[in-house]
Amino acid sequence: MRVLVLHGPNLNMLGTRETGIYGTGTLDEIDAELEKLATELGVEVECFQSNSEAALVDRLQGSRGRVHAIVFNPAAFTHYSIVLRDAVAGLGLPVVEVHLTNVHAREDFRRQSVVAPVAAGQISGFGSDSYLLGLRAAVALASREAAAGV
Ligand code: DQA
Repeated sequence: MRVLVLHGPNLNMLGTRETGIYGTGTLDEIDAELEKLATELGVEVECFQSNSEAALVDRLQGSRGRVHAIVFNPAAFTHYSIVLRDAVAGLGLPVVEVHLTNVHAREDFRRQSVVAPVAAGQISGFGSDSYLLGLRAAVALASREAAAGV
């Protein structure tokens, strides 16, 4: 089983970006934790970060037939990108939306996710553990779909 992990804009700056909110851990450290958990779970992960909406859409579209589930932190695009929402909706793959911070406990504009209604679910507020929980959820969903012959 193969899971794509997609990181949206500014997440490449983790470690130095608003450390009071996001902490000092880096994206490379998150990807390494994901690789370690994937090995434990017996699955493969591929991690990709982009600041570009178009690159994220291309990666979502290109994942069809290649991966079984997706863990996606759309970052600020979460709150307004109908483009990414439509890309997720059209995929036919389980997508788990994740956020490092609890987006419901921050500014009002972060409470809305245009992606969440077309995602399998949302995990928000557990720091880098949001990604690890997201990977577990993605693997569980993909396994269930495989067992059901979807
Ligand atoms: C974020 C939350 C978003 O509101 C913000 O724009 C981000 C990161 C998170 O992981 O907590 O860039 O997605």
